Amino acid sequence: MIVITGASSGLGKEVAKLYSKAGKKVVNISRSECEYADINICLSLREGEQIEEAAQKILEMDEPIEIIINSIGVWSEEPYGDITENEIKRLMSTNVKAPSLLISKLFERIKENESDILNVISTTGTKARDVYPVYSGSKWALRGMTKSLQETLKDTKSRVISFCPGGMATEFFEKENSDVEASKWMDPADVAVCIKQILDLPKSLEVSEIILNRKKV
Ligand SMILES: NC(=O)c1ccc[n+]([C@@H]2O[C@H](COP(=O)([O-])OP(=O)(O)OC[C@H]3O[C@@H](n4cnc5c(N)ncnc54)[C@H](OP(=O)(O)O)[C@@H]3O)[C@@H](O)[C@H]2O)c1
Repeated sequence: MIVITGASSGLGKEVAKLYSKAGKKVVNISRSECEYADINICLSLREGEQIEEAAQKILEMDEPIEIIINSIGVWSEEPYGDITENEIKRLMSTNVKAPSLLISKLFERIKENESDILNVISTTGTKARDVYPVYSGSKWALRGMTKSLQETLKDTKSRVISFCPGGMATEFFEKENSDVEASKWMDPADVAVCIKQILDLPKSLEVSEIILNRKKV
């Protein structure tokens, strides 16, 4: 089965659609349902207890975990001078703690099933910027956690992929009442194809990191 966090919308939903079309059993974990998922675990992964509950539900399923794709994420625009403690907590708990703790809770199964893991980061987690420090910091942190996981699993058959896309035309920004105009950015359906193509490669090939830049067309 393919476990996707954040498959209720945007990129995660497009990835779920592709795997569902390919005949795979898709499990979504997010607060709302995904129409392409066979099983929806509707929980908020911001809370440690709900991460534990989600992990337990996955562990109770008999099927092996083929792939875990962490697409969960939230946006923040608070700049230096206006950063609040609550915003740091919200971003770090959703963007960093949720994917990392979920993987940790599933770790023995991941090793047993030789599961692949793809964490959706962002190009902003690969370069220094003078804007969006809390969001950017959370993505640098997730990238660091992902690279550490890669090293931890380097002698196993599990592949660990740090996937860093540029801007996509999803509702990511609108959800935070942002003025960012994303409608002409990359189509998340195209980005989902890229994710599946990387994962479809033979198990002997790990594309350890992908930086997918947005081009003007
Ligand atoms: N859009 C961009 O320009 C862009 C660029 C680079 C990277 N990214 C990254 O790409 C990933 C997908 O973003 P997207 O653009 O597809 O945005 P999106 O449509 O808003 O998707 C985000 C997903 O995260 C889930 N989520 C948020 N908070 C959650 C929580 N507390 N518990 C469980 N699930 C939660 C949402 O589900 P529920 O609301 O149903 O819980 C939703 O399914 C994110 O990691 C984002 O940082 C986005």
